[in-house]
Amino acid sequence: MATTNDVIALTGIRKVFQTDEVETHALSEVHLSIARGEYVSISGPSGCGKTTLLSILGLLDTASAGRYVLNGHDVAGLGAAQRARIRNAEIGFIFQAFNLIGDLTVQENVELPLTYRGGIGAAERRERVLESLERVGMAHRMRHYPAQLSGGQQQRVAVARALVGRPAILLADEPTGNLDSRNGEAVMALLEELHRGGATLCMVTHDPRYAELAQRKVRLFDGRVVDEETFDRLRHEDERRLDALIGRRVEAGA
Ligand SMILES: Nc1ncnc2c1ncn2[C@@H]1O[C@H](COP(=O)(O)OP(=O)(O)O)[C@@H](O)[C@H]1O
Ligand SMILES: [Mg+2]
Repeated sequence: MATTNDVIALTGIRKVFQTDEVETHALSEVHLSIARGEYVSISGPSGCGKTTLLSILGLLDTASAGRYVLNGHDVAGLGAAQRARIRNAEIGFIFQAFNLIGDLTVQENVELPLTYRGGIGAAERRERVLESLERVGMAHRMRHYPAQLSGGQQQRVAVARALVGRPAILLADEPTGNLDSRNGEAVMALLEELHRGGATLCMVTHDPRYAELAQRKVRLFDGRVVDEETFDRLRHEDERRLDALIGRRVEAGA
C-alpha cells in the first residue's frame, strides 16, 4: 500500500521490448514501494529485469503500462524535458562502469549535475562538491582525472556525483560489478554508511552476499517480484533443467 512516506510507489509496472519478430516481457506486474530512509536491494539472475526496473525507476526509460509515483510526482505521462528535470532533482545514479567523464577532473565530474540544474551559484556549487567528496573520502583527489584513480576510487567519486544534488533516492546498478572484492566491499560499506546517515537507497545486484547487506531484499525472477521461498524454488528448478540439458548432451556424445 502506497503511503505519503513512500519515495517510490510502482503499481502494475510492465515493460515489453519489441525487437523484429520477438516480444520480450522484461517486467510483468511489478508492485514495489520504497519508503524514505529505506535501503532496498533488488537481486535475481541475469536477464530477470533488474536493469530494466532500475532504468524505469531512474526515469531513463518508460514503462509499457502501470503507475509510477516518484516523491509525490506522477511521472507516467511526462514528456522528456520534464522527466529530465525531475531525474536531475530527485535521482542519484551509480552505474557499474562508473561513467565518469575522462577529460573532466574529479571536481568537475561531481559538479556536473549542479551545472545542468542551473540556478546554483559558483560558490555554492564548489561548497557542495567539496562536502560531497568529503563524504566519500575523495576530497584530496579533487584535481585528479578519472584515469589517475583506482576503480574503487572512481566509484566513490561517482557516489559523490550522485549525492551532490541531494536526491530523494540513490539508485545503484551492480555498483561493485567492475571492482575486485576489496574495493567492492569498501563501496558497500560506503552505501551502508550513507543509509545510516538517512539516505534512501535502492541497489541492484546479482551477488547474494551483497543483497543480504540491505535492510529489505526484493527478489526478481523472470520480470516478477517473488517471495524468498518462491525464488529458491524457481532457482532450483532452473538448475535441474540445466543439469538435465547437460546430461542429455553428454549422453548424445556432444
Ligand atoms: N533494449 C532492449 N531491447 C530488447 N530486449 C531487452 C532490452 N533491454 C533488456 N532486454 C531484455 O529484457 C530482459 C531483462 O533484461 P535486463 O533488465 O537487462 O536484465 P538484468 O539486468 O536482470 O540482467 C532480458 O531478456 C533482456 O534481453
Ligand atoms: Mg543488468
